[in-house]
Amino acid sequence: MATRLADRVYEHWIHAPQVAQHARAGQFLILRLHEMGERIPLTISAVRGDAVRVIFMTVGKTTQELAALRAGDSIMDVVGPLGKPSAIESYGTCCVVGGGVGIASTPLIAEELKEAGNHVIGIIGARSADLLILEDELREICDELYITTDDGSRGVHGFASDVLKGLLNERRIDRVWIIGPAIMMKVTSGVTAPYGVKTYVSLNPIMVDGTGMCGSCRVTVGNETKFACVDGPEFDAHLVDFNELMQRQRTYANQERISLERFAEHQCRCGEGGDHHG
Ligand SMILES: Cc1cc2nc3c(=O)[nH]c(=O)nc-3n(C[C@H](O)[C@H](O)[C@H](O)COP(=O)(O)OP(=O)(O)OC[C@H]3O[C@@H](n4cnc5c(N)ncnc54)[C@H](O)[C@@H]3O)c2cc1C
Ligand code: FES
Repeated sequence: MATRLADRVYEHWIHAPQVAQHARAGQFLILRLHEMGERIPLTISAVRGDAVRVIFMTVGKTTQELAALRAGDSIMDVVGPLGKPSAIESYGTCCVVGGGVGIASTPLIAEELKEAGNHVIGIIGARSADLLILEDELREICDELYITTDDGSRGVHGFASDVLKGLLNERRIDRVWIIGPAIMMKVTSGVTAPYGVKTYVSLNPIMVDGTGMCGSCRVTVGNETKFACVDGPEFDAHLVDFNELMQRQRTYANQERISLERFAEHQCRCGEGGDHHG
């Protein structure tokens, strides 16, 4: 089994030397587990030697299958690193904000910003303490780390956007990265807009090929059509049409529900018959 980090959140280290050699902050992989599997994009969360780390939430069939893989199992296709790397430069003071499983994307960005000479502030938020991930790791990388929970069970009671607003009021911040659910990125980037701080978000539309061919990851940024897989996934937050993104993310909701129900039924039947591989 994958290592469990929080409720429905798991990590795998994938041995993929060619990907690990070239991977940069902000980039992602597309995985296909087996011949009949769908292709799913996952952010490269960390790199260690010949291995890359993915951290994922089990939201449907493929992520559940991925969570069930054990050390030594293989994944049929691992394509990457895909997408443009984060725009890392020496800016001064940078904030990296992660929400929920989006926290997975923050260590590599924070690490590269630090290496480029920035003062790095991490802000991570989750619904409750038991859903927070990577706190110790980020404490090591960042110069300052703030924790928020919606229910107040750990850190500041409230949202990451509240802490960010407080920091923007009291000091100069030169760049902000926000990674999390689309609604969290929309709200949090709304906080930086009045301060005129350049802000990046990592968009997560439906992706299929990841190479700019299928058009499924189409997003609107600054009234222009972009393909998140090749033009992003990071974009200037203040130019993104988040409402369109959220609407397009729901395109296959019905098919995804049916697929998950069939998978659960299949698992159930296999359990009854004692055949766990069928
Ligand atoms: C660039 C990028 C990076 C991502 N990184 C991470 C990550 O690090 N950790 C993580 O937990 N999730 C990440 N995601 C989302 C992840 O790809 C989906 O959770 C996953 O594809 C769900 O597949 P499923 O079969 O388990 O669920 P399904 O039942 O198929 O779908 C559940 C939900 O997942 C999303 N989704 C489904 N298929 C896709 C697809 N092909 N492309 C994008 N989203 C899809 C949709 O919102 C859908 O409603 C990322 C998405 C993108 C675009
Ligand atoms: S995923 Fe097909 S064009 Fe981006």
